[in-house]
Amino acid sequence: MAGKKKICISLLLVLALNAGMAFPAYGVSAAGKSGRTKVLVAYFSATGTTKSAAKKIKKAAGGSIYRIKAAEPYTTADLGYENDDCRANKEQNDENARPKIKGKVKNISKYDVIFLGYPIWWGKEPKIIRTFLESYDLKGKLIVPFCTSGGSGISGSMKGVKESAKDAEVVKGKDLTDLSYKSVEKWAKKKVR
Ligand SMILES: Cc1cc2nc3c(=O)[nH]c(=O)nc-3n(C[C@H](O)[C@H](O)[C@H](O)COP(=O)(O)O)c2cc1C
Repeated sequence: MAGKKKICISLLLVLALNAGMAFPAYGVSAAGKSGRTKVLVAYFSATGTTKSAAKKIKKAAGGSIYRIKAAEPYTTADLGYENDDCRANKEQNDENARPKIKGKVKNISKYDVIFLGYPIWWGKEPKIIRTFLESYDLKGKLIVPFCTSGGSGISGSMKGVKESAKDAEVVKGKDLTDLSYKSVEKWAKKKVR
């Protein structure tokens, strides 16, 4: 009887170990966590507000930080949204606009959680965020959007982010405008499972 019990326990152990090895991205670790802990904080920031939110996340969750830079940097005139014809407005009004990015994330395959930050432009994500998402194979990654805004919040950007982050799991994002470090830390740590 004791021998049978041992065999059963051994079999269960082998099965559990195999499950963890077969699905490393989703993980089945002993602690029941997904194991998605290799963090990249990628952000676009035109005037610095999103940058400071991104730095809080990096401090709380660790990992690497990457600034998404436009190949053609945005000037003050480009951002002057009171002028209908400014570059930012034209891009936001063009569904197909994909402003070019300078540089690339080195070896994105080594990350499994991407915190993705941006300012809200006309209620949505700046089009350069779609360029970013469409430049990589994001299969199996967890994307956690965050933004800063003048009050619109992040919800209007979720559709575009989801459309461009093909094959990734995109969770509900958060507007971090004016949030204290403690609040950002609490939120960010919950996402790194
Ligand atoms: C072109 C443009 C459009 C914007 N549209 C909105 C908007 O629709 N809603 C909003 O709350 N804030 C809007 N803002 C304000 C920014 O989202 C806000 O200032 C943000 O914190 C800037 O982040 P950054 O400093 O990282 O670029 C807009 C700003 C710009 C330049």
